[in-house]
Amino acid sequence: MVASKVIGVGAYLPEKIVTNNDLAQTLETSDEWIRSRVGIAKRHIAAEGELTSHLAIKAARLALEHAQITPEAIDLVIVATTTPDYTFPATAALVQTALGIPPCAAFDVQAVCSGFIYALNTADMYIKSGQSTCALVIGAETMSRLLDWTDRSTCVLFGDGAGAFILKATDSKDTSRILGTKLYADGAFKDALYTQGGASQGHFGTLHMNGKEVFKAAVVNMAKAIDCVLADHHVKDADIDWVVPHQANQRIIEGLAERLKLPMDKVISTIAEHANTSAATIPLAFDVAVKDGRIKRGDVIVMPAMGGGFTWGATLMVY
Ligand code: ACO
Repeated sequence: MVASKVIGVGAYLPEKIVTNNDLAQTLETSDEWIRSRVGIAKRHIAAEGELTSHLAIKAARLALEHAQITPEAIDLVIVATTTPDYTFPATAALVQTALGIPPCAAFDVQAVCSGFIYALNTADMYIKSGQSTCALVIGAETMSRLLDWTDRSTCVLFGDGAGAFILKATDSKDTSRILGTKLYADGAFKDALYTQGGASQGHFGTLHMNGKEVFKAAVVNMAKAIDCVLADHHVKDADIDWVVPHQANQRIIEGLAERLKLPMDKVISTIAEHANTSAATIPLAFDVAVKDGRIKRGDVIVMPAMGGGFTWGATLMVY
């Protein structure tokens, strides 16, 4: 039976850095408030004219390099994003042509902060079904364009960036592979985290959030999704080498670790440096931990996420 494995990772953050103190110049906030409530020290913000596809393309080039393959090998491109360059065409099509990937299936997935694991699961299914042999999966966002920069309760939380995985078909004898994913959505919670507009409403609006409701749901839903995906694949908590969670805020990440009874030194956290980059947080954090040598081949890794919708879930893999 065919399975898929991650053969390359890459990430890109815009050059411009905005610190908490920079925000405090124009907002009634402070470095102390932001660090203590959400663990964020700074965020990267896309320059004027720098679009989601530009970040995605840079992350993808680095993932191709890391995988040591050329663009011709790719036969599926999926971009998880809530902030596409255009309503259409899909950002994935822009990435495909910019990288010189031969015509192939290329589309965007919209599941907000859970988007990357939705996209990864889709690519895994394409590969398992034999419809694809090598997929480029990207989480890329310019969340800064969706924010009300006068609303201190939301604008301090987010940043821009992109991360990419290359998934390749492998046989089931290879222990390195995606074991499985659990995904969920419940639109009953749409008012807890949303933008007031969208293309069919003729305006896009800005991001709104009920912070307390999101906090509780994020910890509980991500923990349950991990329990389910571990049970499906007969993996015990003690077998986990790394948790690479969606980076929403440090207290959510610590709450999750506490609930799972996992020490924080098994959890990858990049929230301080990257802030919340929505669909890009997991591949960005993963890239950091691969490149600094913490994540190694053979490690058992679980990647939980939760976002607007609500959407949530978890992917389990052996790297
Ligand atoms: N600086 C200073 N004060 C602030 C700021 C800020 N940036 N933001 C809010 N406050 C103030 C509020 O105005 C309020 O003041 P008031 O008491 O005078 O009215 C006070 O802080 C408390 O506000 P609450 O909203 O009640 O604060 P809470 O304790 O809930 O903390 C927080 C807010 C940190 C956002 C928390 O709810 C949280 O962590 N929620 C999770 C949300 C999250 O991480 N979202 C990310 C996106 S969703 C996702 O990725 C899953």
